[in-house]
Amino acid sequence: MSTPDPASQRRSYERGSLTRETLLPDPVAQFRQWFTDATGTPEVIEPNAMSLATVDAGGQPSLRTVLLKAYDERGFVFFTNYESRKARDIAANPRVALLLPWLALERQVKIEGRAERVSRTETVKYFLSRPIGHRLGAWVSQQSSVVSSRSLLLTKLEEMKRRFADGEVPCPDFWGGYRVVPSRFEFWQGGKDRIHDSFAYLPAADGSWTIERLAP
Ligand SMILES: Cc1cc2nc3c(=O)[nH]c(=O)nc-3n(C[C@H](O)[C@H](O)[C@H](O)COP(=O)(O)O)c2cc1C
Repeated sequence: MSTPDPASQRRSYERGSLTRETLLPDPVAQFRQWFTDATGTPEVIEPNAMSLATVDAGGQPSLRTVLLKAYDERGFVFFTNYESRKARDIAANPRVALLLPWLALERQVKIEGRAERVSRTETVKYFLSRPIGHRLGAWVSQQSSVVSSRSLLLTKLEEMKRRFADGEVPCPDFWGGYRVVPSRFEFWQGGKDRIHDSFAYLPAADGSWTIERLAP
């Protein structure tokens, strides 16, 4: 039996189109509209999952999935381990990019900007809203470092359960949020015959955003 040929995977994008007239002037408002569509579309699993690209001190890019946990005019927030590879990258170079691929809607959103730590208050508030197992998990994992076995992690989890048996699981110092303060957005909608619609939002001098159509 032959294995699937990636070159034969072909799909016509016909779900919608994007025009300058229908785009909202504010990219965060536009994002809100598309995020609402994505969360209302059952085929879009994890609508808040996004790829986060970072670049290390030597110029090597890397990326991984993180979950969007808040967004507003100030930026786009995710939470992670402040000693992870992504955190080390951000410390050396705060310029990052985000990609939300809502493929079931034939859409993607790209965001570029600078990552900055959220306040400790914001981190702790979110941490305490997480299920207890997730909170314990944050204590267990030295994210991105080599670990010899899964059983070692499970042993550490049991240790943490005992350590915090009598009360709240506090937020570790090495865990917290980043806010990506956006400096560019791109909204992409797949079109028929590979004539897709793509629009960039760029900051204008007066504080508003300039919208440009991009060749797809
Ligand atoms: C669906 C999904 C959601 C994830 N969400 C997060 C997240 O919100 N925060 C996080 O630190 N890692 C998250 N991860 C794990 C990261 O992708 C990554 O493996 C981990 O953060 C280590 O990345 P780094 O070594 O590049 O720092 C998620 C992975 C998947 C597949």
